[in-house]
Amino acid sequence: MIKQNNNYLIMKNFTKEKIIAILKDNTQNEWLFSLADEIRKENVGDEVHLRGLIEFSNICKRTCKYCGLRCENKEIDRYRIQPDDIIKYSQKAVEMGYKTIVLQSGEDEYYSCDVMCEIIKGIKNLDVALTLSIGERSFDDYKAFKDAGADRYLLRIETTDKDLYKQMHPYMDFDNRIRCLKDLKTLGYELGTGCLVGLPNQTVESLADDILFFNKIGADMVGIGPFIPHPNTPLKDFKTGDFTLALKVMALTRIIMKDINIPATTAMETLNPNGRIIALQSGANVVMPNVTTREYRAKYEIYPGKICVNEEPSQCRHCIEAKIKSIGRIISKTKGFHKTC
Ligand code: 5AD
Ligand code: FES
Repeated sequence: MIKQNNNYLIMKNFTKEKIIAILKDNTQNEWLFSLADEIRKENVGDEVHLRGLIEFSNICKRTCKYCGLRCENKEIDRYRIQPDDIIKYSQKAVEMGYKTIVLQSGEDEYYSCDVMCEIIKGIKNLDVALTLSIGERSFDDYKAFKDAGADRYLLRIETTDKDLYKQMHPYMDFDNRIRCLKDLKTLGYELGTGCLVGLPNQTVESLADDILFFNKIGADMVGIGPFIPHPNTPLKDFKTGDFTLALKVMALTRIIMKDINIPATTAMETLNPNGRIIALQSGANVVMPNVTTREYRAKYEIYPGKICVNEEPSQCRHCIEAKIKSIGRIISKTKGFHKTC
């Protein structure tokens, strides 16, 4: 497996110092990406898992400084998709061949525990895996969602640097976010987390901590994306995150965590027209095509320039399938659980 007699290769244990050294050194990036690709192939094979993403509400009570959905953004046209319609769109996604549905929204209390459970049960009747990405909730809510049939949960830590976390989320509590991640793990969800790369004041040292954190918390999935400044947020004048650095964080996560699921994120494609394919060739094995109908897509503007806002779900499916096949990879027919589970 080891291609070159390179210093980085002989280290089994990735210490923080070694990760920092790799993140700072741009002379061996191609080698790093191909090593991650090789480790991906050995551990999770050539299959790419497609997860159908439904962005069902852009209403959010939070004020994350980077996010276009933050409640202080008055420029955005807010929407909520009703439970029956969410189930209907899920059904369409299943008919298109999706084996996993991902339900994502802002933190919107309209979807109470009972309402969510109703949606979860409706979708689980379709014989698909279900991932939730609806933010911080109580242990009891997470338990009810699990009992109703939810399989996975995505909740990015965003950054493990507590000071930066406070700057980015002045009214949120880092410890509660950790509590959520631990509760989800305890309850038996497949746990997804991840971080942003390129936030103002973020250091490579803290990115190294993020990678080690993903491993320590036992993440089954890790999503990493570059920060993209949104014009209607307090971070509008800050620099866009670096695509290559985000790719390196992702590749290192693959090298260290080996068999987890790693999406080629939409934010990567927003910065580079071939971003998802490059990510799939640098450690990623999952893509999350949007299956939300066109009328809502542009309104779910977490960051500007989001891809596929003018497409319908079937167009996205065909487009990404063709791209994946063009690099010799296979569309998975399974639900794509983390294999150690
Ligand atoms: N740029 C890139 N990613 C963002 N997210 C939120 N705002 C932005 C932005 N401006 C990411 C967060 C969140 C995920 C759903 O979208 O990491 O967890
Ligand atoms: Fe909605 Fe951050 S702005 S969770």
